[in-house]
Amino acid sequence: MARIIGTGSYLPKRVMTNKEMEEYVDTTDEWIVARTGIRERHLSDGQENTGDLGYIAALAALENAGVKAEEVDYILVATTTPHSLVPNTSSYIQDKLGASNASCLDLNAACTGFIYGLEVAEGLLKSDHINHILVIGSEVLSKITDFTDRSTCVLFGDGAGAAVLAKGNGIRGIISGADGTKGACLHTRDFPVNNLIEKGSTAPQLIHMDGKEVYKFAVNILPEALKAAVLRGKGDLEELDHIVPHQANIRIIEAASKRLSISMDKFYVNIQNTGNTSSASIAIALDELNRSGKLENGHQLALVGFGGGLTYGAVYLEWNI
Ligand SMILES: CC(C)(COP(=O)(O)OP(=O)(O)OC[C@H]1O[C@@H](n2cnc3c(N)ncnc32)[C@H](O)[C@@H]1OP(=O)(O)O)[C@@H](O)C(=O)NCCC(=O)NCCS
Repeated sequence: MARIIGTGSYLPKRVMTNKEMEEYVDTTDEWIVARTGIRERHLSDGQENTGDLGYIAALAALENAGVKAEEVDYILVATTTPHSLVPNTSSYIQDKLGASNASCLDLNAACTGFIYGLEVAEGLLKSDHINHILVIGSEVLSKITDFTDRSTCVLFGDGAGAAVLAKGNGIRGIISGADGTKGACLHTRDFPVNNLIEKGSTAPQLIHMDGKEVYKFAVNILPEALKAAVLRGKGDLEELDHIVPHQANIRIIEAASKRLSISMDKFYVNIQNTGNTSSASIAIALDELNRSGKLENGHQLALVGFGGGLTYGAVYLEWNI
């Protein structure tokens, strides 16, 4: 029994338009808009790291929820681009928030990270001693983006989103899963296994992607995961008021809308301004929807994501803030 009681998000100030991208790789604004729906993305200024973005989003979520930092029992940060490997990003954010009573855990399920975070939080909230959990998705993907590879660099952006969860009626059904056999479709080069042998590689860990394979996986899994979560929560697809999908490609969202026979009006879309922000994407979109005034208590929502792993997951909930 868990519900979302507040949301927050943050996008770095620096905006990189498709036109600017043309200066770095052989691409055009027209190609990017037509193939992805993306017009611009926000990038870190090089000073703001993953924990800094996540901290601002978390602060906004706590304010929205009316919860003090000391009241947070757990901080879960979903990220593929941690602030540092040690300490984890959640401990960094705990320190900045002054959330001294919180346990701190990072998790990585790539672009499905926020959904996995909600699933873990829902389980933790069954414990008597845990009452408030901050689930944060935060990414500085520009750390691992290859700005010489036009097939990937146009897709990604930086940002953070957060939600505060408490006990109560809200989340009705969650599903998650992964197909590890498809891991190579979207991966970064491994760290050296043993620095003593490899003498310490300084090569950056950049994203490599088989876009077509990921696309095929996504157009199938997005509707299937969404249906499964609604079924688990004994709901009805036709009664959904809003769907907040992972923002990877507008064509993937449009294909899901068609396959599910659910109007595009019900899908929240902000990809034109954010690009794909991985773990942060669904959390940012949910916060924008929450602050738009279009979300009312009693509304039925589905959040759905997919990404590296390849992972997937969906949450079906009633808004009860
Ligand atoms: C990446 C993606 C946008 C590519 O779109 P696509 O329609 O499949 O395009 P293709 O890969 O078939 O490429 C078509 C052509 O455009 C070219 N191209 C690729 N990126 C380009 C760019 N940024 N600008 C211009 N041309 C580009 C390709 O080189 C190819 O040229 P060729 O036909 O001469 O070989 C699409 O596959 C996709 O969105 N996949 C899913 C990715 C995703 O969601 N990843 C994150 C998961 S969380």
